Amino acid sequence: MLKKLFSYLLPITIFKQKSTISQTLEVTWTDGKLVLDSKNTNYSYGSLQRILRKGLKIIGFESIKTMNSILVLGVAGGSVIRTLVDEINFKGKITGVDIDQAVIEIANAYFRLNEIPNLEIIIDDAFEFVQKTKNKYDLIIIDIFQDTKMPDFLFETLFVNRICFLLNPKGFVLFNTMLLNAKQKQQHLDYIKNFDPNLYKVTKFNKLEETNELILIESKL
Ligand SMILES: C[S@@+](CC[C@H](N)C(=O)[O-])C[C@H]1O[C@@H](n2cnc3c(N)ncnc32)[C@H](O)[C@@H]1O
Repeated sequence: MLKKLFSYLLPITIFKQKSTISQTLEVTWTDGKLVLDSKNTNYSYGSLQRILRKGLKIIGFESIKTMNSILVLGVAGGSVIRTLVDEINFKGKITGVDIDQAVIEIANAYFRLNEIPNLEIIIDDAFEFVQKTKNKYDLIIIDIFQDTKMPDFLFETLFVNRICFLLNPKGFVLFNTMLLNAKQKQQHLDYIKNFDPNLYKVTKFNKLEETNELILIESKL
């Protein structure tokens, strides 16, 4: 309680460990809120949660409520899952996939992710998982970072096609990306070319929290 109060003056880190995926994982009280950070960026419950909440608002909380199944690729502390469950009151099934067992242990210990009854967590590489799964989803949230770096496979046609295949009719993909330079800008433009405009509506929302761009893909059929 005291740490929470003092955190309005100065951030207080209460847990820190080395990570092969994220360099470090840190749980910190900041302005009275518990957040999860990697070495160089916020992972959960800070700016990251605000960015994805904005994307969910654009899709519409009411329309998300009527969905049956949501896939979250990149779980970390689970802040977008908390938005779905606590703010939207989503009652359908959520499947969360993360490559890092250690980050899920932190999510359970500090953010009580294991107490969410409609959530299944799978420890796997998202690239491998999407090749294997037999399920389809109404909404797929892609939020995969290794510290500030996004793995290349996210932008490759093989992965994009598989994500489209896993989407139910009239489904949505919400892709959180970083946009810091001209190279990434071109990468995003090339990415969008993967989607046939007769089948998908693609919209970009940039300069979110200065550094991020959300790409929203909506299946027209
Ligand atoms: C920004 S955090 C996710 C934040 C989360 N969506 C939230 O709302 O709090 C990025 C996560 O991607 C995970 N990750 C990195 N590479 C991955 C991969 N190839 N497959 C699955 N997860 C991966 C990291 O372990 C990290 O937990």
